[in-house]
Amino acid sequence: MRPLTELLENNRRWAESVSAENPEFFPNLSQQQSPNFLWIGCSDSRVPANQIVGVAPGEVFVHRNIANVVVHTDFNCLSVIEYAVAVLQVKHVIVCGHYGCGGVRSASQSHHLGLIDNWLRHIRDIRQKHEATLRVTSEAARVDRLCELNVVEQVQNVCHTSVIQEAWEQGQELAVHGWIYDVGDGLIRDLNVSIEGPDEIAEAYRIAIEPDAGPDH
Ligand code: CO
Repeated sequence: MRPLTELLENNRRWAESVSAENPEFFPNLSQQQSPNFLWIGCSDSRVPANQIVGVAPGEVFVHRNIANVVVHTDFNCLSVIEYAVAVLQVKHVIVCGHYGCGGVRSASQSHHLGLIDNWLRHIRDIRQKHEATLRVTSEAARVDRLCELNVVEQVQNVCHTSVIQEAWEQGQELAVHGWIYDVGDGLIRDLNVSIEGPDEIAEAYRIAIEPDAGPDH
């Protein structure tokens, strides 16, 4: 039980230090949350949303699953998007993938893992869709590019949800972005696939999937 005791002690120390710095922090947060950002990221323990963008509790609404996949029939993810957009009125939806993603790597190999194979099927579909682009590079570069293309595809999926479409129809100010995080240096790269309205979806996608597209390093 020692590791859990340690976590609880860490928590107590953290809460004390936050309160010492700002006595109103927790009382204010307990009244309401009003984050500007929805983060859709991978469950990977190395990619904690708040920490890597340096924001406090209350500033980012978060959904994470294996390989940051947005599936049109996933009511968990759709509910998060709906709540974030319709109720919290976030201004930005960020899909953040990461290099070295185990889910993406597994999807580019042929061995089977179990139930998760069904989830990773979505990534395999993306790999097949972009086979021509992915074929020309080394194994490592191929997986990296698939991590990026997965983000590009998930940004598209977010934009096509009924929730986002309706928000834009009603004139709500809302941008969807695609980022990729490098666990090797702690830096986020912008995949330059930001979309602020339905008429920008197709063009942003066309540019982002070109063979020489990718983040500015
Ligand atoms: Co991952």
